[in-house]
Amino acid sequence: MKIAVVGTGYVGLVTGTCFAESGNDVICVDTDHTKVERLKRGEIPIYEPGLEEMVKRNAREDRLRFTTSIEEAVGQSLMVFIAVGTPPGEDGSADLQYVLHVARDIGRLISTFTIVVNKSTVPVGTGDKVRAVIAGELARRGVEVPFDIVSNPEFLKEGNAIDDFMKPDRVIVGCEEPRTAELMKELYAPFVRTEHPILIMDVHSSEMTKYAANAMLATKISFMNDVANLCELVGADIDMVRKGIGSDSRIGYSFIFPGVGYGGSCFPKDVQALCRTGRQHGHALELLEAVEAVNYRQKNVLLRKLAAACNGDLAGKTFAVWGLAFKPNTDDMREAPSLVVIEGLLAAGATVRAYDPAANHEARKSLGGRVTLCEHSYDALEGADGLILVTEWNDFRHPDFDRMKKLLRRPLVIDGRNIYDPARMKRLGFEYHSIGRGR
Ligand SMILES: NC(=O)c1ccc[n+]([C@@H]2O[C@H](COP(=O)([O-])OP(=O)(O)OC[C@H]3O[C@@H](n4cnc5c(N)ncnc54)[C@H](O)[C@@H]3O)[C@@H](O)[C@H]2O)c1
Repeated sequence: MKIAVVGTGYVGLVTGTCFAESGNDVICVDTDHTKVERLKRGEIPIYEPGLEEMVKRNAREDRLRFTTSIEEAVGQSLMVFIAVGTPPGEDGSADLQYVLHVARDIGRLISTFTIVVNKSTVPVGTGDKVRAVIAGELARRGVEVPFDIVSNPEFLKEGNAIDDFMKPDRVIVGCEEPRTAELMKELYAPFVRTEHPILIMDVHSSEMTKYAANAMLATKISFMNDVANLCELVGADIDMVRKGIGSDSRIGYSFIFPGVGYGGSCFPKDVQALCRTGRQHGHALELLEAVEAVNYRQKNVLLRKLAAACNGDLAGKTFAVWGLAFKPNTDDMREAPSLVVIEGLLAAGATVRAYDPAANHEARKSLGGRVTLCEHSYDALEGADGLILVTEWNDFRHPDFDRMKKLLRRPLVIDGRNIYDPARMKRLGFEYHSIGRGR
C-alpha cells in the first residue's frame, strides 16, 4: 500500500518504518528540515533501540523515504497517517493545532480517495473536527473527493517501540466504513499473526480507548506511590507489598513499581486532557484528578528525602544525579521527574553533576549550562555530597560500590527506583534512602 506518515517523531518514525518493514511504500513527512535531512542521511534523531538498522534497511530498499514536502506525500498515498504532537494547552486540554493543520493540508491536496488515519492521541470528537476541516477545504476548492476518517491510536512504549509496534497486544481501529475497516485489517495483518486482536469500533470509542488506557496505567503508578509513602510511615516494605499484591492474577505485576512519579510525553498530558474533557462535560473525574495530584507530589519526594538527610541545607552542596530520561531506554526528557529534582536542587543553591546514558544531549537543550553533564556515570560522583538516582537504567544496577564510595564526598544515596538492597547498602557504609521501604 502507498502510505504517507505526517510527523516523524517517536510515533511517526516508528509507524512509517514498521509499515515499510512489512513491504509497504512509505513516505514520511516532517516540517522540521534538520530532522528530515538527518533521516535522509540515515541518522536517527531519537534514541530508540533497533530503529536505526530498520530505517537504513528500508530506506536502502527504497520503501521508506523522507521529505519536508506534504505535497509530495499526500497526493500519492491511499492512506495518510497523522502522527504529529498533541501537547497540552494552557488549560490542560490537548492542543490540536498541529493535527488540524495537517487536516487542512490534506483537504488542500487530495484528488483521489484517501483514508485519513489519526494516530496522534486526541480527545473524543477530534475525528469529527478533522473530517469537517477536510470537507471545508474541499468545498473551498469546489471539488468533491471521497475520503474517510479513521482513529488508530498508538500504544507503543518508547524504549521498546519496535517490538510494541510489530507485536501489539491489540490494534484499535475506529472507523465507520466496512471497506476502510477491511483495508486497515489488511495493513495490520502482518503484525497480529499471533492472534492478537484488531478491534474495530466507532471513532469516538477508539479515541476514548487511548485516554482510558493511559489513565488506567497512570492510576496504577500513583496508587502504588501513595501506598509506598504510607508504608514508610507504618513500617512496611513496599517491595514485599508489591509482590504480595502482584501475585494476585486480578492485579498483576506490571506498572506497580513505586518510584518518583510518572513523566514522559504521554501520561501527564493525557491524564490532564482527560480530566479537562470530564470537566467540560460537567463530569469531574475525581479519581484521575487525585492521580495527577499524587504524581505531582511524588515528583518532589526525592528532594524531600534529600533535604531531610541534609537537615534542610542544600545550599553550596554538590549532588550527582543518575538518570535524566523519563524512563530507561529512551532519550525523551519531556516531563521527566529528573527535571523537577534538578530544578529543585538549583533553586536551593546546590550544584548538579548529572549523567544519563542516552539523554545528555536532550538535557543540554533543556538545562543548558546550569548543570555539569558528565560523560561517565562515575564522573558525576566526583566530590558530590550525595547521589540521587532518578532513572533505573540497567547500567546503574550493579555499580562498583567501592569506587562510588571513594568518589562521593559523603556516601549518601537517595534511590528513587529501589534498585539497591537496603541491607547491603548499609553494610557497605552508605546512608541509603529509597521509596517505601523500612522505617
Ligand atoms: N511518544 C510516545 O511514546 C507516544 C506513544 C503513543 C502515542 N503518542 C502520541 O502520538 C503523537 C505524536 O507523539 P510523538 O512523541 O511522536 O511526538 P514528537 O513531538 O516526537 O513528534 C511530532 C513530530 O511532528 C512534526 N510536525 C508537527 N507539525 C507538523 C506538520 N504540520 N507536518 C509535518 N510534521 C509536523 C514535528 O516536527 C515532530 O517531528 C502524540 O499525540 C502523542 O501523544 C506518543
